[in-house]
Amino acid sequence: MSDKSLICAIETSCDETAIAFIKDGNTVLSNVVSSQIDTHRAFGGVMPEVASRLHIEQISLVLKESLAKAKVHMDDVDAIAFTQGPGLIGSLHIGVLASKTLAWYFQKPLVPVHHIAGHIYANAFVTKLKFPLLALVVSGGHTELVYMKEDFDFEVLGTTQDDAVGEAYDKVARVMELGYPGGPAIDALAKQGSTQYVLPRIKTEKPLDFSFSGLKSAVLQLILKEQRGQRELNKANLAYAFQEAVLDELLLKLKKALEIVDVRQVVLAGGVSANSRLRERLTSMMENYPDIALSIPPLWCTTDNAAMIGAAGAVAFTKGIRADFSTSASAGLDL
Ligand code: KG4
Ligand code: ZN
Repeated sequence: MSDKSLICAIETSCDETAIAFIKDGNTVLSNVVSSQIDTHRAFGGVMPEVASRLHIEQISLVLKESLAKAKVHMDDVDAIAFTQGPGLIGSLHIGVLASKTLAWYFQKPLVPVHHIAGHIYANAFVTKLKFPLLALVVSGGHTELVYMKEDFDFEVLGTTQDDAVGEAYDKVARVMELGYPGGPAIDALAKQGSTQYVLPRIKTEKPLDFSFSGLKSAVLQLILKEQRGQRELNKANLAYAFQEAVLDELLLKLKKALEIVDVRQVVLAGGVSANSRLRERLTSMMENYPDIALSIPPLWCTTDNAAMIGAAGAVAFTKGIRADFSTSASAGLDL
């Protein structure tokens, strides 16, 4: 099968209603994202029930806008790729149902995509993936080291034992009263910070697993201690200390994984890959591995969107991966 394709991609796993049209695997004709962040901000986090309702309201409008921007018609499409999971079940259902409806009406094949595969294939917009590769997946719901021998062959080498890294950013930002989502706020504040506070480094049983909940508790304890001592908290310095501790953990585990697997490329993936300090530290770390290429997704393709689902979907489509009308959304789908 040739790599020529026009994919309609639909992503609704969390709080973004997103539809993209992707040509030949890595040309973005349109990538419309309707974010619900302003609504959820009032609650300090994503409210699943509210998210589902907003997806229902938005999805037809997003499709209409995305079709108009791409200047294509559904008849031109080769396949409909959709996020099957993981994510919020009510949110996923809306995207799956919309995909099935379009597939039925326009008689198009359905291609199921794992949300994390989407994040990894976001790198296809800047590079050709070189296998075997190692992906460092850092998002609001996942923290994983994924080894890929070839396209769509995923082996999870390590995962988080508790919170995902983005979740830790969001929770720490909440106790620091920095608002939601916390990642960008901590990223920005840490730039003004320096070494003042000391946070513990993390220990995990399995060498390639991650853990962030201890760090989150340590931040809370530090805040309470400063309050008890009636000392003013230097938020920038705390953001700095937290971020350096998180990045130490991520990069340490990545280094350990590189001792175990032989790869041609390291790719960064997931919403936290927008983090400026992570990009900086990972780039300088990889200078010590001149034989391994590094790919960092473009900023526009770091947080949830449908273009990344289209990039992964195009490869899955070529490989003959298909869903049918009995396929349903799966909140805890394995990679
Ligand atoms: O991948 P994503 O859009 O959604 C999931 O699949 O979970 O990731 C969202 C997460 C949030 O936790 C958000 O705080 C975090 O990515 N994030 C960041 C930054 N931008 C977004 N974390 C750290 N630094 C950033 N600049
Ligand atoms: Zn995501």
